Amino acid sequence: MKKQSRYTSKQPDSQGLIAYTEEEHAIWHDLITRQIPMLEGRACRQWIGALDEMNLPIERIPQLPELNKVLEKHTGWNVVPVKALIPFTEFFALLADKKFPVATFIRTREEFDYLQEPDIFHEVFGHTPVLTDRRFSAFIEAYGKAGLAADPKDHAMLARLFWFTVEFGLVDNGDGVRAYGAGIMSSPGELVYAVESNIPQRKPLDPVDALRTPYRIDIYQTVYFVLDTFDHLFELSQADWSTFISEARRLGMHAPTYPPKEAA
Ligand SMILES: [Fe+2]
Repeated sequence: MKKQSRYTSKQPDSQGLIAYTEEEHAIWHDLITRQIPMLEGRACRQWIGALDEMNLPIERIPQLPELNKVLEKHTGWNVVPVKALIPFTEFFALLADKKFPVATFIRTREEFDYLQEPDIFHEVFGHTPVLTDRRFSAFIEAYGKAGLAADPKDHAMLARLFWFTVEFGLVDNGDGVRAYGAGIMSSPGELVYAVESNIPQRKPLDPVDALRTPYRIDIYQTVYFVLDTFDHLFELSQADWSTFISEARRLGMHAPTYPPKEAA
């Protein structure tokens, strides 16, 4: 199932520090300075506030221990380096333990605008800011616990809920649709499309509906789910997820709203 990656995650030394090249730091700089001016009016206020809390460096790729200092202060979360995409059970176990797995390589210039795999820009810029929010981090922790408790045949279903919230979630808390999902926040093209385009469907977030909705990872999304407030994520963190799963299984999958993937 897993496709061969052209990238290898970099391993930290005994201090938890990773040696990046000047060119890798320059790629980070160019990515972050392109993305920050895109946020106004497109990222939700909570996300922009959370980015300020992270105080990410502009000139260099941040090191994981410095990120953990900030996350620990706010929510007790940590980021942990992983070699590549990891199996569901490992992923769920880390999240249930308030550890967010991050790939530590950075994309090359050839894939500056788009790559399918998560790189450290996606992981750190996209994901870490909202890990400072107690409601959001409670949701991800509950997600990890629900994953550990779930039947393995429901893992792919649970992945859809993660996709439509943590990765591609939108929120409208009164001042229009805004983004908070990491897949959107780390993509200049999808940030504009997700918030401003008339093409995609935008539906209120319903967990059972999200569990039933298929997606493709290689195109802009055709459906986005919109939260009314981050408080809703906290409410979901307190819910019984096994009832969502059994209801979604009973109702079955929605038909795709995107074209089939062309054969390579
Ligand atoms: Fe991600």
